[in-house]
This record gives sequence, C-alpha cells and structure tokens, in this order.
Amino acid sequence: MCGIVGYWGPNEPKKVILSGLRRLEYRGYDSTGVAIFDQKELKVFRSPGKLVSLEEKIKNNHFSGPAGIGHTRWATHGEPNEKNAHPHKVDSIAIVHNGIIENYVQIRQKLIQEGAKLSSDTDSELVAHLLVKEIKKGSDILKATLNVIPQLHGAYSILVINEKEPDTLLAFKNGTPMLVGLGQKEVVIASDVQAIIEHTNKIVYLEDGEIVLSHKSDAQFFDIKGKKISKDIHEINWTTAMAEKAGFNHFMEKEIYEQPRALGQTMAEHIDHKTKHVVLKNLGLTDAELLNFNRIQLIACGSAWHAALCAKYFLESLAKIPCDIDIASEFRYRSPILEKTTLFVTVSQSGETADTLACLRFAKKAGLKILSICNVQHSSIDREANARIYTNAGPEIGVCSTKAFTAQIVALQLLALHLARVKNTLNGEQISDLVSGLLALPSQVEVCLNHDKWFKDAAQTLAKYKGFLYLGRGALYPIALEGALKLKEITYLHAEGFASGELKHGPIALVDKDMAIIAMCPKDELYEKNISNIEEVRARGGQIIAIGTEADEHLKNLSQYYLAIPKAISMANPILASIPVQLLSYHLACELNRDVDKPRNLAKSVTVE
Ligand code: G6P
Repeated sequence: MCGIVGYWGPNEPKKVILSGLRRLEYRGYDSTGVAIFDQKELKVFRSPGKLVSLEEKIKNNHFSGPAGIGHTRWATHGEPNEKNAHPHKVDSIAIVHNGIIENYVQIRQKLIQEGAKLSSDTDSELVAHLLVKEIKKGSDILKATLNVIPQLHGAYSILVINEKEPDTLLAFKNGTPMLVGLGQKEVVIASDVQAIIEHTNKIVYLEDGEIVLSHKSDAQFFDIKGKKISKDIHEINWTTAMAEKAGFNHFMEKEIYEQPRALGQTMAEHIDHKTKHVVLKNLGLTDAELLNFNRIQLIACGSAWHAALCAKYFLESLAKIPCDIDIASEFRYRSPILEKTTLFVTVSQSGETADTLACLRFAKKAGLKILSICNVQHSSIDREANARIYTNAGPEIGVCSTKAFTAQIVALQLLALHLARVKNTLNGEQISDLVSGLLALPSQVEVCLNHDKWFKDAAQTLAKYKGFLYLGRGALYPIALEGALKLKEITYLHAEGFASGELKHGPIALVDKDMAIIAMCPKDELYEKNISNIEEVRARGGQIIAIGTEADEHLKNLSQYYLAIPKAISMANPILASIPVQLLSYHLACELNRDVDKPRNLAKSVTVE
C-alpha cells in the first residue's frame, strides 16, 4: 500500500522523488520521507501527515548528490508519526519498505538481544539492521541482501540506498510490486508505474525473489541465489497526462467524467462493430477450453467485488453457467472446493491487491485456469493469470473506484456474451441486439452526468440526513452496496446497501424522516416489486431519492427527489445507475470538506493481507 520511489540520474533527485511521491500518494498518506545524497552524505528527512508537510520541510534544502529514495506510508506497524516514517537509516544503509514482515516479533527480539538500538516501532527498520549486520560481517550489499531475504517472512518490496556507494540502488521484493524504469542514463525504481512514466516508458517488472542492483544507470538483475538473470523490458503506453487532473478539482471527479470514454475503450477492443459480436481475441482461452468449464468462481475485493456480484446476474442468465462470488480475504480460509472444471476469474483494478493475488496463486496451484479482469497491464495479477480481459479504463488515481468499476461490469458482461455464443445459449441476433444496447452506454452515461449540477446544488440539503440506505434488486443490488461503500469511503457518513426485498427483515427499523433512501428503480422486470418496497419505506417516513427510467411520473410522485437515467437494455441499468450514486458521494464529500482523493485511513492499492 505504501508508495516507494528511488532515483539515480542527471535530474535533481529531490525534484524527481517528490514528484514521484505525489503520484504515489494515493497508495498511503500517513507520513512521508526521503533519503537523498548531499555530496557523499545521505540526508534523511521525514514528516508525519501528507506530502505537503515534507515538501515544506525541505523546500530550502539543496542536495548535490545523484541519487535518493522516498516513501509515502500507509501505517501497518507503529503509529504514523515521524520516528516510524520511512526511510529508516541504520549506519550507512537507508531503506524504504512496502508490505509487512510477518516474523518481525522474532527478528526484533533477536536484534535487541544482540544489542541493536531500535529507533522506531516498525517492522521495516529491522530489515535495515539485518542488512547492516551482514555488511559488518564483510558482505557487499548484494551478498548482504541474499543473506537477509531467507530471514524475512511476509510480503514486501524494499528499496535500499547505501552511503558507501552513492551511485547504487538495490531493490528486492516478495508479494508486493516493484518496477524498474530504465531511462536514458537514469534509473527510477518504484512501487507503481505512475512514478516512472514521467521519465521513461521502458519498464522491467521484478518478480518475487528477484533483486535489482543498479550502479549508475546500469541495472543488473539477480535471482534468489545471486545468479545474474536477464529480464524482459516492457514498453507501456500510459502517459503522464493520463494521470493529471486536467482542470478538474479532484481525480475522482475527472474519473467520473471519463466514464463514457473508459466504457467505449473497454468495449472497442472486444467488439466487432460490423457484426456486433463480442470477439475476445486476446482472451487466451479457446472456445473448446471454455466449453469444458461448468462453473465460474469470481474473486475480488472492495468495489471490484461489487462488480463481480453484479456480473453473476448476467453470467447466469445469459451464459447459463453457475457462478460463485467470494471476497478474496475470505476465500482461502473456508476450505473451498476447487475443481479444474471451474474457471477462476479475478477482478482487480490495480492487479496488485494482496488477497486477490493470493487467491489466484492458491487456485493456480490447484490446477485451475485463471482469467484476470484487470485495468493495469503487466501488474502482478495480469502477469500470473492464464487469460485476460483488460478494462482499458486508463489510470485510476482517486481512492474511490469509479471508471474502473463500471468498466469491470462491462468487461464481465462481454465475457457473459462471449460464453453465451460459445455455449450457444443465445443466438447471433440476440447477442448483436445486446451488444448494440451496450454500445449505447457511452452516450447514455453522458446523459446521467447531467445530474452533476443537481447534486452540487442539493449537497447542502442532503448532508443533513443522519444516514443513507441504498436499495436495489437484481443486478442493481450490488450497485446499492457500491453506492453505500462510496459514501462511507469519502464522506464518513453512515450508509448501508440492501437488497430491496431484505429491508423488512431488519434494516427497516432504521427508517425515519431523517434517513435518506436511495432507491434504484429502473423500468425493468422487477419494477413493481421495487415500487412496493419504496411504499413500505415511505409509510415509515423515509425520504426517497429515486433513480428511475426517464420521466416516470408514478415514481416521481413517490419520491422527494427523482433522478432519471435513460431508457436502456436492462444490462445497462447497473452502469447507468452507478453514475448518480457516484455523484452523490462526490458532492457530499466536497460539501463536508473531505479529502476526496485521499480519504482518511484508506489506500488505493491494498498490497497487504
Ligand atoms: C481498495 C480500494 C477500492 C478497490 C479495492 C480493490 O480498497 O480503495 O477502491 O475496489 O481496493 O482493489 P483492486 O485494485 O483489486 O480493484
């Protein structure tokens, strides 16, 4: 979850590292720090809170060395104060760390017995002590690292800088990401591509157990035994402009507005516009292989889990294939029955979520084929899967998932239609009708974005409600869950999502005149049932904010506020209903002066279990 960046090269390391940390801040923002060479001395500056406080602290410092490392933290072990901030410097070694060293208690006790002076409560500092111990025995930095790795249990990416060798950066990893950007006479090592693309699009992805030792701009790679290895260099097509706010106030706002384009891009690669058929050219699974699967197991976390829940409705109704969904952090611990006739599908924006990745490995080990629905090409999940569908939504920076979420739903719907063709559960005409319906999504989403102004104006009134209940049925039920999650994440207000029919089994007790009920009630086969549930809530004084199809006078009369989405195929409704739900959270968060892109306690990429 923490962001790591290291630099060697002709540019000013302070500038490069701070700019990298700014791009990585969404990974965690409890504290920040840098270790940068000034002449031959490695100077460390750390600060609790967001990056701005570190920037302020070192704004007048000039560093004359060629290299440095930086860190933005999402605290796991130890409070987010200055002493626990990274880098941790011990003797001549400074390190930054992302992840958790699970056996830190044992390491800590041993180091204390041996007389080590610890200056923080973190697991990370211990790694610096272990490296120093090895160096004192006569090892060089590579040998020291090779000796330390077997002592560490857990998930980590670690970047090391060494006062004795100002031109050298070393990094190693297990479980969490680490990337090496190879520029013209410069090297950037970081936990995320966002910190590298400003300098180069040539990236090497470090695998678990591998080490990069970079002397000046010459990066060499080693395996866990210290044997030199060669690595592929990938050219990535994201640009820095894609990760800028482009005139919007927040990344989340920009990403909400990017949805028409993101959805179009997700579909473009996978639809034959002439025949209106789904063509998953690069899926990596043949029709014959697909026919062998009699079940789908979807695994995800957070918003991606909601997208997976939503997809179940389409995979089962269109492709007639039984479908199970699990939260990744639960799956492995319930002794699941894994059969090779199950297609194992991971859904992840970042492709780095630790629990999702662990499930992928667990299922792969049992011999299952893995299909990844992912936004970040070459991420760990993407690299380890057997088959893939990219969501192509572009970089998503706001902690709240918006465009990646709707793109995940559409990608999974394309999978459902592809399977329906393979399994012959729909005929060609039915498929092309549905594809035509999906192709209307970008312009229909544009229409939904027109509610933006209404939410902006209404935010002050809406902020007075004591809580928010989101209701939906069928494929709109996961959108109710997602709506409530979005609101909690960035406004810190109480919100819950329910299947509309479940309300009377308990949650209806929460309803009174101070409770806002966001009722998703498009004109579909469940419309009448939804109306009954709305009546039940109205009878108890609940204030209805309804999302319905076009000018639905009946629903409008039942509601305090009515928001229309365009008439569409029912597959499109969960995506269209997501837009007002996102706008509601966004404008309430702005009204309450919340930090929209960096909500408290959260991080975008959750690389610890
Ligand atoms: C975090 C983010 C969520 C995201 C979830 C899963 O909790 O804040 O927005 O849905 O991780 O992330 P993934 O990258 O696997 O989709």
